[in-house]
Amino acid sequence: MIKVGIIGVGTVGTSVAQILKSNADVISARAGQEIVVKSGVVKNLKKDRGLDIIITDNVETILNDEEIDIVVELMGGVDEAFEVVKKALSKGKSVVTANKALLAYHRYELQDLAKDNAFEYEAAVAGGIPIINALRDGLTANHIESIVGIMNGTCNYMMTEMANNGVAYDAILKEAQDLGYAEADPEFDVGGYDAAHKLLILSSIAYGIDAKPEDILIEGIQNVSSEDVAFAKEFGYAIKLLTIAKKDGSEVELRVHACLISKEEMIAKIDGVMNGVSVVGDKVGETLYYGPGAGGDATASAVIADIISIARAGKSSPMLGFDKPMEGKLTLKPSANIESKYYLRINVSDKAGVLAKITKIFEVHNISVETMLQKSTSNSSANLLISTHIAKESDIQAMMNELEALDFVNEKPNMIRIF
Ligand code: NAP
Ligand code: HSE
Repeated sequence: MIKVGIIGVGTVGTSVAQILKSNADVISARAGQEIVVKSGVVKNLKKDRGLDIIITDNVETILNDEEIDIVVELMGGVDEAFEVVKKALSKGKSVVTANKALLAYHRYELQDLAKDNAFEYEAAVAGGIPIINALRDGLTANHIESIVGIMNGTCNYMMTEMANNGVAYDAILKEAQDLGYAEADPEFDVGGYDAAHKLLILSSIAYGIDAKPEDILIEGIQNVSSEDVAFAKEFGYAIKLLTIAKKDGSEVELRVHACLISKEEMIAKIDGVMNGVSVVGDKVGETLYYGPGAGGDATASAVIADIISIARAGKSSPMLGFDKPMEGKLTLKPSANIESKYYLRINVSDKAGVLAKITKIFEVHNISVETMLQKSTSNSSANLLISTHIAKESDIQAMMNELEALDFVNEKPNMIRIF
């Protein structure tokens, strides 16, 4: 029998304990032995969890319990979780976590510390989709060309509701929180950081890249207005928070930002809390993965898969996919050198000469306009909706700064990249 201790019995931890009990028949048959949760740790002992396990607010109860084989860390956060997981490993316990923030900062240290202990984290990326398994094991023969996906259920749920039902941003964020999709601090979701944490984990497995969140381009959905969503819809696009890793020669670009995607693209059709990931390998070609990206039961499904894999085999694949560092390592492409097409919404005073001045600034920054449309917003102002040909990130950023300072530009121009 395998005994489990759960540190953090919230949305995911509660589902893990419930499913280990309700699906015990299939789980023990697949694992080859019984798996039971012995105890769980929470902050607030007054809250009833409805579980028949020992509940404590003292993490040492689990860490010092010699009967516990697997510590499941579901408390979230970085520093405290890091200390807890380090202690669990030092006591020879196997660890399962769904904590992508922890891994975004400490995955290489944890890999070194884990040594022969099992350390699994399938639920940390794309919730219920087994993308870690796919990338680390199923596609292991390939050089990975790209990973493009929707990897934050909260943002995808919000963007879908904004497009389909015109629901206000704050109301729909509250709904995503109530459904158990959002992080304890939802800024991590809407600010793009949660998706970036997932991207960094995948970039280690795919490319062996040891980058931190502050090294890559991260933008969220806070600047996507209902106007942008409506314009996008009118012109046959969806707006999604995209997570992108792309190999370009010996460089890899890593970025997270909102994107206009043609409704014809498969990825534009992924709605609600669902996540979708496309991985292109040099030998296999494109592979696609789709499933629920957040929520208690969907995430617990991935956590329990890790527990079962440890119960079956102990340690299996190298934690981050590589047994030794790659020769001639790939490096991170500087964000300023990223290239894309862009959509710009510039609210201007509607008077003679404005358009000429704007197009001059585009020319100065070496940016070529693909399409342009003007829509009045009042008697004296209008939105200029502009899409560009491929341009360089540093040029667009410099141009945006110049545009913002102009006296006939009424508000900070908005920019969304086009997929
Ligand atoms: P949650 O509902 O906020 O649960 C966190 C749990 O940890 C709560 O039970 C909380 O206690 C406990 N906790 C927090 N700090 C603690 C401390 N210092 N000492 C003891 N207990 C502590 O979060 P969640 O949604 O289950 O997420 C857990 C982890 O899974 C996070 O790393 C998250 O990023 C990850 N994840 C979540 C999802 C999802 O859909 N929710 C999906 C994938 C991954 P109280 O209950 O007393 O407050
Ligand atoms: N807050 C995360 C999301 C949970 O919305 O995708 C799953 O990682």
